[in-house]
Amino acid sequence: MKNFYIETFGCQMNAHDSEKVIGTLVSEGYSKVDTPEAADLVLYNTCSIRDKAEQKVFHRLQQFKRDAGKGKTFAVLGCVAQQEGERIFEKAPHVSMVVGSASYTRLPELLVQLEAGNRRVTGLSLDTEDTFETPLTRRDNPYRAYITIIEGCDKSCAYCVVPFTRGPERSRTSESVLAETRNLAAAGYTEIQLLGQNVNSYHDPSPAGFTFAQLLNAVGQVSGIRRVRFTTSHPRDFTKDIIDAIDRNPNLCNHVHLPVQSGSSSVLQRMQRLYTRDEYMRRIEWMKAANRNIAITTDVIVGFCGETEADFEQTLQLLDEVQYDSVFSFKYSKRPNTPALSLDDHLPEEEKSRRLTILQEKQRGIQIARNSELVGTVQEVNVEGFNKATGQWIGRTSHNRTLNFSHPAGDATNLSGGYLEARVTRAGPNSLVGESVLM
Ligand code: 5AD
Ligand code: SF4
Repeated sequence: MKNFYIETFGCQMNAHDSEKVIGTLVSEGYSKVDTPEAADLVLYNTCSIRDKAEQKVFHRLQQFKRDAGKGKTFAVLGCVAQQEGERIFEKAPHVSMVVGSASYTRLPELLVQLEAGNRRVTGLSLDTEDTFETPLTRRDNPYRAYITIIEGCDKSCAYCVVPFTRGPERSRTSESVLAETRNLAAAGYTEIQLLGQNVNSYHDPSPAGFTFAQLLNAVGQVSGIRRVRFTTSHPRDFTKDIIDAIDRNPNLCNHVHLPVQSGSSSVLQRMQRLYTRDEYMRRIEWMKAANRNIAITTDVIVGFCGETEADFEQTLQLLDEVQYDSVFSFKYSKRPNTPALSLDDHLPEEEKSRRLTILQEKQRGIQIARNSELVGTVQEVNVEGFNKATGQWIGRTSHNRTLNFSHPAGDATNLSGGYLEARVTRAGPNSLVGESVLM
């Protein structure tokens, strides 16, 4: 049972967990293969943030069983594993291992049990103070590396499964984060993305006692690192020193993702978000007053229980006020174990859909206008690849916008991973088009 295949659903935390799981499996003598057919062990790292996410997993599990399941061992990891626990064995009896992210440090031991022929292996305890650190991490991208700085979540947003699926908040030491950053820089990585459910709730457990802003600064000063990103931030813990750090250090990307969820203080209160609309707007004002032009993005949930038309209007007004560079918007969906299940006034699906469409239309207009302001400017991009269909290179700006640009024909050098300047010539709602500026 030494060949494995892994499929990952969900957020960047999950994507990076999979990189660490792959490293762990390789250290244990397993080889990664690219199809489930070629694998003896098939792993799914799952997400349960919204209901479709988890349906997709069960659908996928059934599909593999039908097509390629004979003689294979199946494992379910991640948030659905934690949420459903041993019920997965009932729903999908061909599964042999169920492990939540708070138990990944036990993976080597659980694999031994599996290899010994144990048909039902679980790692489901949430009672942990460990973070998942591996001697070997198999990263997908050769230039941009994720680094987890904090795991779990101690908030209790009424709609959210994460406190139940990822366990209590625990931070890594700043030494360990900085050592990993230095190793990555030495291996040629130039961009670091600090990850956590709430990165800005970071509390250094070591005597150095770094705040999140101090850690950000220190990572941005590691020689060879040109870009540092971080996601996700919680508005309640978002302090002004984070903006000051971005202002001072150009290696810190001028982009902040600050999920607002709703523009109505009464909805925010019911969501147990721990801030009001005004408190959120104060943080936006800090960003707008910064010396650097900071891109601001957010997450919004429409149709939370009891959201009135007036509440929804307030969210639309907030979009007008903030002028976000990008918005991820979702219809509220009921999740198991969450406090919102006991709230009244769940909205009909059609009404949620109607509000989502209105919000997305509005934001599309805002983004077209925001992106159009950039036409004629020169932006530094990190080159992510080449699109054969359009003949354009794909770049990413410090603001985290995609800028597809042309580069003179005949110059066939592989630009991927490099940095160059491109002039913006056109703007759409979701990306920019331009041409490289030749020195
Ligand atoms: N329903 C809809 N959206 C949700 N999110 C989290 N939980 C839910 C839910 N139950 C959204 C939030 C969060 C993002 C990652 O997913 O906007 O910020
Ligand atoms: Fe999905 Fe949330 Fe788990 Fe990420 S932490 S995989 S978004 S449920």
